[in-house]
Amino acid sequence: MGMKENRLDGLAIPKHVAFIMDGNGRWARAKGKKRTTGHREGSRTLKNICKVAYELGVEYVTVYAFSTENWKRSDEEVAFLMRLLRQYLKESVQEAEKNNMRIKVIGHIEGLPRDIQDKIELLEKVSIQYDGLKLQIALNYGGRDEIVRAIKKINHELETDVLQHSDINEDLVSRYLDTSGIPDPDLMIRTSGEVRLSNFLLWQLAYTEFYFTEKYWPDFDKNALEDAIIKYNETERRFGGLADET
Ligand code: IPE
Ligand code: IPE
Ligand code: MG
Repeated sequence: MGMKENRLDGLAIPKHVAFIMDGNGRWARAKGKKRTTGHREGSRTLKNICKVAYELGVEYVTVYAFSTENWKRSDEEVAFLMRLLRQYLKESVQEAEKNNMRIKVIGHIEGLPRDIQDKIELLEKVSIQYDGLKLQIALNYGGRDEIVRAIKKINHELETDVLQHSDINEDLVSRYLDTSGIPDPDLMIRTSGEVRLSNFLLWQLAYTEFYFTEKYWPDFDKNALEDAIIKYNETERRFGGLADET
């Protein structure tokens, strides 16, 4: 262990990594298993990646777990995902304590079953005291829905004179999103070969570096995350400015 060379020595570690955890179903099918088995395995991968990311020095992880569009799946699959979610939220109370994680859920929480809303509230309340990895879980989340909800909140503040029109700027809009106070992701990783955003963090990913891998989410591991961070270090982030002179 001690003599093993660290592949990331001297490299910049992204402060915030966002994941589109895709490919659970295809992972299962390739193994002749049910899609639900893939989801179960995917939730194990999430627990592992949180630990690994924090060990590597990542401060924030945001994961896409259930989109506003995922309700279109079969009743059976949606029901299974909600069951898995209940279990995950319950276990996460201990997991947060063990790993010093602060967990926050983003998305249209009121649109989730009542008991899940309660579990989210409890988990957030318990884990707010921890200051290790900040984990955001996107549940019933859609980037467009998040922006619409922010516009409604801002509109309400205008109508009640809490805000004036002249207060509206990019920082204010950011503060009315679910990710208020959380820095934008530096790196976004999508597994399973799809090259699209599927309505994930539309506002926040404006200047994020994207990394796509063919690996299915259940197979994503420490080595795969290191590969992504190495690739992240090969690009120069210009944010609209000019390339560095070399
Ligand atoms: C991602 O895996 C998990 C969720 C969207 C809930 P998928 O279920 O989308 O797996 P594929 O894309 O069908 O393989
Ligand atoms: C995106 O994956 C949503 C999550 C990972 C939760 P999907 O599998 O739902 O996206 P599409 O349908 O391939 O765009
Ligand atoms: Mg998918």
